[in-house]
Amino acid sequence: MQYRKLGKLEWQPSALGFGAMRLPTYDQDLDRINISATREMLEYAIENGVNYLDTAWPYHKGKSEEVIGEFLKEGYRDKIKLATKMPVWEVNEVKDFDHFFKEQLKKLQTEWIDCYLLHALNQKTWKKVYDLGVLDWCEKQKREGLIFSLGFSFHDQYPVFQQIIDAYGEWDFCQIQYNFMDIDYQAGKKGLQYAHAHDIGVIVMEPLRGGQLAKEPPSDISEIWKNSGSDLNHVDAALQWLWNQAEVGLVLSGMSNLDQVKDNIASADKSSINLLSDADLMVFEQVREAYLKRIAIPCTGCRYCLPCPQNIDIPAVFDIYNTGIIYEDIPKAGLFYNWLKPDNRADRCLACGECEEKCPQNIKIIDALQKAHKELTEGGKG
Ligand SMILES: NC(=O)c1ccc[n+]([C@@H]2O[C@H](COP(=O)([O-])OP(=O)(O)OC[C@H]3O[C@@H](n4cnc5c(N)ncnc54)[C@H](OP(=O)(O)O)[C@@H]3O)[C@@H](O)[C@H]2O)c1
Repeated sequence: MQYRKLGKLEWQPSALGFGAMRLPTYDQDLDRINISATREMLEYAIENGVNYLDTAWPYHKGKSEEVIGEFLKEGYRDKIKLATKMPVWEVNEVKDFDHFFKEQLKKLQTEWIDCYLLHALNQKTWKKVYDLGVLDWCEKQKREGLIFSLGFSFHDQYPVFQQIIDAYGEWDFCQIQYNFMDIDYQAGKKGLQYAHAHDIGVIVMEPLRGGQLAKEPPSDISEIWKNSGSDLNHVDAALQWLWNQAEVGLVLSGMSNLDQVKDNIASADKSSINLLSDADLMVFEQVREAYLKRIAIPCTGCRYCLPCPQNIDIPAVFDIYNTGIIYEDIPKAGLFYNWLKPDNRADRCLACGECEEKCPQNIKIIDALQKAHKELTEGGKG
C-alpha cells in the first residue's frame, strides 16, 4: 500500500480509503447489509494496508455505523482511523450535537472518533450549525479527546466552499466530490487547490462518480481508452488520475464486493504522484470531451431562467437528465429525479415561456422539460 500526506496531520493515510456507504446488501435493501461479505471485504482491506474507514449517520439507513461498530470491536479498532459525520440537516438546536454524537459513539462501539466531519455542508446547513456554535462544540470534543481531527464534507458551489474554509483556521481536512469528469463541479479542482494551499488535507469522495465511471463506457469512449496504448483499464485509470495529483490526500471508494476491493487496492499499490505522462493526461481530456459531447440539453447552469413562476428547478432537472444521457444510465437519473421535491419537478410546467425569454443559450426549455420528465419517469426506477 502507498501512504500519503493529509494536510498537517501527522499520520499518513493509505492512498485508498474504505467508504462504508455502498456495502453489499440483500435484495438491494439498503438496511439489510450482508455482514459476512462486508467483514471479508474489510478484513482484506485492512490486511492489505487500508487504514481509513469512512461511515456516516444516514448510510444504509443508519445500519452502516452499527455494522462497522460490530466489526471494529473484534480487534480492528486500533488498526484504522475511523471517520463518521454529524448529520447537520437533522440538527435544530445545540443539544442535538450531543445527542447524535453520543449515539454514534454507541453504535460504533468506540470511545473516540479519529476524523469527525460535518456532513454534506451547503450554504444553508453551514449557516445553521455555525450560528448554533458547532465549532465551539467540536473544539470541546477535541479537548476532551473524543474527536482527534475535524473536517467537513461538501456539496455546494465553490464560493461556499471558500467561505467555509476561510471561516475557521483549524480545519484538519475536507472531503469533496472530485474525479476526472467533475473538475469544475462543486468545490472542484479550484477547491482542491485552495484547501491544499491552506494546509487542509483533501479526501476525495465519489472518485468513480459513484460507479458511473466504473461501468463499461459507451463504445466511442471505450475506443479512446483502447487506442490510448495504456495498460490501465478505465477504472484503474480514473483512480490513477486522482493519485497523480499531490493535492489529493486520500481517495475514498465505496466498494460493494470483494473483487472491487482487491482491484482498487492493486491500483493503490502502484499509485504515485506524477505517475501519468502528459500523453496519458491528454487521453483523459479526450475522454472528458467525448462524454461532454453527449450532453443532450446545453444548459450551463447559469440559472438566468429562474425563478420559474411554477417553482420548477429547471437547471437541476436538466443536470439530472444530462447525467443520465451522458453515462447511459437513465434509470439511476430517474432515481435522483424522484428525490427532487414534487414542486420542483418538470411536470408542473404550464408553458408560460418566461424562462425561454431569459435563457442565454436559447434552449427550448418547455419542450426540453417535457422530454426530460417523460424519460426520467418512464425510464426511472423509483
Ligand atoms: N460526505 C458525503 O457527503 C459523501 C457523499 C458521497 C460519498 N461519501 C463517502 O465517500 C465514499 C466514496 O464515494 P462513492 O461510494 O461514491 O465512491 P465511488 O468509488 O465513486 O463509487 C463506488 C461504486 O463504484 C463502483 N466501483 C468501485 N470500485 C470498482 C471497481 N474496481 N470495479 C468496478 N466498479 C467499482 C461500485 O459500483 P457498483 O456498486 O454499481 O458495482 C461502487 O459501489 C462513500 O462510500 C462514502 O463513504 C461521502
